[in-house]
Amino acid sequence: MVSEKDALVAAAVFVFVLISHGEGIIGGREAEPHSRPYMASIQVPEGENMKHECGGFVIADQWVMTAVHCLPTGPNGRKVVLGVHSLSEPEETKQTFDILELYNHPNFSESNYDNDIALIKLDRPFNISEAVKAVEYLRADGTNPGTDAKVDTAGWGSLDNLGSRPDKLKEVVVEVVSSTRCRRSDYFGRKFTDNMICAHKVCPDPCDQPYKKEDSCDGDSGGPLLYNGIAVGITSNGGKKCGQIKKPGIYTIISHYTEWIDNTMALQPAATQDQSS
Ligand SMILES: *[C@@H]1O[C@H](CO)[C@@H](O)[C@H](O)[C@H]1NC(C)=O
Ligand SMILES: *[C@@H]1O[C@H](CO)[C@@H](O)[C@H](O)[C@H]1NC(C)=O
Repeated sequence: MVSEKDALVAAAVFVFVLISHGEGIIGGREAEPHSRPYMASIQVPEGENMKHECGGFVIADQWVMTAVHCLPTGPNGRKVVLGVHSLSEPEETKQTFDILELYNHPNFSESNYDNDIALIKLDRPFNISEAVKAVEYLRADGTNPGTDAKVDTAGWGSLDNLGSRPDKLKEVVVEVVSSTRCRRSDYFGRKFTDNMICAHKVCPDPCDQPYKKEDSCDGDSGGPLLYNGIAVGITSNGGKKCGQIKKPGIYTIISHYTEWIDNTMALQPAATQDQSS
């Protein structure tokens, strides 16, 4: 006879197996360490420690791009850590910075997260290394990915249904969803603006139910959406909660902000961009 305890143990083992072999459910995987040297971890003080809160990505020697909704009221003691793979381990590649200046896009909308793009000026230039490098971002004359294009994103945010946060950087391939569909009332309706791109995970075969519910979560916000290795979007998610069915991720279209980016970075003549090219 199978006791209640045995059944519980079996259930626990089953859940553990699901978590530890996460690819099957979540369509994501651990990134090769430092294979995305532009990734930034934006961390907030929590007692004695710093806690990962949002992603970001390096676009020039002293500049990190992220989302406004990550730091809506200012830096408040947050730090930016570059060269991270594991959040908890003391890695020699890590470089930690204070935020010298934060530029939130002035037209950010709290109601639908339109214009969710921010620039952080670090307190000093980073030391370029295999683990820390700028990424190219799409400018106004570039081509954004079309419907069904494969794009990818990475982050330290919750990537599974159970809300657990990974310690190591995870990456996932997603597919662009047509804006017509994202504007449908059963998706995002009128909250979905022309400055947004939406993308969902490519469902593996067999496409199981837990997978369908999967979604990117808070800790991924501010990170990049990449198309052929170029940053084309910023993880924004329109303020939606994690794990909603039929809600793809929402990303800010970077190429719509070329002028604002150029003007903002030019505000600080000391910030040369000679490392970024
Ligand atoms: C913000 O919106 C106003 C009104 O539409 C516009 O004039 C201004 O150029 C926008 N600001 C930026 C930085 O795009
Ligand atoms: C860059 O390297 C120099 C020399 O090793 C060091 O003094 C400096 O603190 C480093 N800068 C950063 C941002 O870590």
